[in-house]
Amino acid sequence: MPWVDGTRTVTDTEKFIKSSKKQQRSKKGLQFTIKSKNKICGMVGLVSTDNQTKKTEIGYWLSSRHTGKGIMTKSCKALVEYCFNNLNLNKILIRCATGNKASIGIPERLNFRKEGLLRDDTVINGKFEDLILFTLLRKEWDG
Ligand SMILES: CC(C)(COP(=O)(O)OP(=O)(O)OC[C@H]1O[C@@H](n2cnc3c(N)ncnc32)[C@H](O)[C@@H]1OP(=O)(O)O)[C@@H](O)C(=O)NCCC(=O)NCCS
Repeated sequence: MPWVDGTRTVTDTEKFIKSSKKQQRSKKGLQFTIKSKNKICGMVGLVSTDNQTKKTEIGYWLSSRHTGKGIMTKSCKALVEYCFNNLNLNKILIRCATGNKASIGIPERLNFRKEGLLRDDTVINGKFEDLILFTLLRKEWDG
């Protein structure tokens, strides 16, 4: 992910928290920590929320010690419900690098549809990468 290199120090994380709070105040984003045994083990959040077209995008990461247990699928499911039931949004996007099987597993388990391939859509380790765009519409969500 493009933000990893810029997230190495406490100051970097403080800047992230500050920008997340700004996004939250302007209703353009919303970040949640995920806790296991009262310790933060990952994050899931909304970015690029557009309240006019009622669209948002979910992003996520988990500490490697907590993968393989379904934690992120459950967290994303809760966030999807929150988007449709509480934020009155209509469309949720998830973009995954074509080689990121673990990440692709999340929208697939939650019945997102594959909407297309975004060519050279991000830079990972200095290289352009294609991203798969998964989307879910409110009318497709059965709860
Ligand atoms: C993407 C990422 C969060 C996925 O983590 P994950 O642990 O595979 O996802 P989940 O927590 O939903 O767990 C799913 C795994 O647990 C298993 N599992 C066990 N119990 C489960 C349950 N009750 N429900 C769902 N899955 C369960 C699943 O079979 C799956 O394992 P598999 O891939 O071997 O089949 C993680 O790999 C990560 O943080 N990667 C780096 C950051 C990143 O790439 N972010 C995405 C950017 S788009």
